[in-house]
Amino acid sequence: MRPGGPHVRPPGTFGDGRAIMTDIRVWDPLVRVFHWSLVAGFAANALFNDPEGKTHEVIGLAILGLVALRVLWGFVGPRHARFSDFPPSVSASLGQIGEMATGRKHVHRGHSPLGALMIYNLLIVMLVIGVTGYMMTTLAFFGVGWVEDVHEAAVLWAEISVLAHVAAVFLESRRLGINLPKSMVTGYKRIPADRKN
Ligand code: HEM
Ligand code: HEM
Repeated sequence: MRPGGPHVRPPGTFGDGRAIMTDIRVWDPLVRVFHWSLVAGFAANALFNDPEGKTHEVIGLAILGLVALRVLWGFVGPRHARFSDFPPSVSASLGQIGEMATGRKHVHRGHSPLGALMIYNLLIVMLVIGVTGYMMTTLAFFGVGWVEDVHEAAVLWAEISVLAHVAAVFLESRRLGINLPKSMVTGYKRIPADRKN
């Protein structure tokens, strides 16, 4: 028998070490619809950019609208959608890297610090792509070399970022034992019951 008898167990666990988990609602419908529409739109535009057709421009402008809506939601939306819930923080990100290195697990209810940095990066790069794309369709900037160069370079950066984002989502899901992609579908995240924040 373990010292302290069979009825004493560490708080937040079943006694055999397994954490008691609970489902909490983290991503509201707007965040989820935004996310998967952005994924579909970005993939479509990265793959198809026929100079003759209008589809690329329409999808691109829709993405620009989605990102604008998400930025607004970052100020007025529910708790975990707000930018104030995931401020960009280098020190917190270094802390998260430290946790990865030492095997300490800290499950975040909303976005993790490294996740937050990636999200700001993705939102900004989408805006740059959208604005330069729109500029190419205006008389003032049509055929201007640097605008096209920035559009293309930003697309490449976004593609690299997306690869890193998806890899990080899967690695963090495995490390923490939480299905993060599923939570972006259902809106619920399964976290240890004794975690309050
Ligand atoms: C996330 C959104 C977008 C992505 C991923 C994207 C991606 C691309 C890519 C890969 C190219 C081809 C570059 C090349 O190799 O020549 C391109 C070209 C172009 N894009 Fe976008 N784009 C986006 C948004 C937009 C928007 C919002 C507009 C305009 C409203 C736009 C207008 C254009 C134009 C006019 C071209 C040049 C087409 C040509 O004449 O070859 N794009 N874009
Ligand atoms: C074009 C590809 C993608 C882009 C541009 C993108 C962009 C984003 C953005 C902007 C957010 C922040 C959501 C918000 O708070 O509004 C986010 C979060 C997230 N994305 Fe993506 N994403 C992409 C692909 C994917 C894929 C393929 C998956 C799943 C396999 C995924 C899983 C997630 C998850 C799980 C989160 C929440 C992370 C957390 O728990 O903090 N993303 N993504």
